[in-house]
Amino acid sequence: MSVDSQTARGKFIVFEGGDGSGKSTQVERLASRLGARRTREPGGTPIGDQIRALVLDPAHTELADRTEALLMAAARAQHVAELIEPTLAAGTHVVCDRYVASSLAYQGAGRGLGIDVVADVNRFAIAELTPDLTVLLDVDPQSARSRLGDALDRIEEAGAALGEQVVETYRTLAAADPDGWVVVDANGSIEDVAERVDVVIAERLGL
Ligand code: TYD
Repeated sequence: MSVDSQTARGKFIVFEGGDGSGKSTQVERLASRLGARRTREPGGTPIGDQIRALVLDPAHTELADRTEALLMAAARAQHVAELIEPTLAAGTHVVCDRYVASSLAYQGAGRGLGIDVVADVNRFAIAELTPDLTVLLDVDPQSARSRLGDALDRIEEAGAALGEQVVETYRTLAAADPDGWVVVDANGSIEDVAERVDVVIAERLGL
């Protein structure tokens, strides 16, 4: 058995951004270009999808902020254990729409639970699986709102209040960890943004 026959671990690429940043489109496009496994949070597994339905349902007005944070982390723990880690270990890249930083931005900053405490909960959830690269799609708030359309989920409904803090938190996280993050200007056409994404993925990961 040669050294080469050992499978190289896949790369774990995460996209983050506020609601309406065009993330899902870019995730889909990059994943298909790389032949990567595309997935999203909250969700990505049958258990995660049930948690997603629960947590995003606008009818659940009584859901407490701490419950929301724990449910996001629980969905993530399942996602890591069942899908992300085994896929990477098998040598396939994973492109994920949102990860821990979403919880830091939305629950930690947006809901005001505190970034450090939400980070602690998530450290437990992810069992040390950090992304190889997090791409922040940075878009100005007005064009984000116009991309969103009308059918808002429970957290998007709170978006007017959360929006600024979420965007600011992403920018702060990215600035604090330049090796782990790259910020991409997400204004402009889908093709323009896709080109920028391809450039940074090539530069940072050689893919
Ligand atoms: P989603 O429906 O996938 O929409 P988007 O296209 O904006 O990503 O996102 C689900 C919502 O869940 C979104 O408003 C952000 C929120 N969210 C959190 O609040 N915390 C989290 O940890 C995650 C993963 C998502």
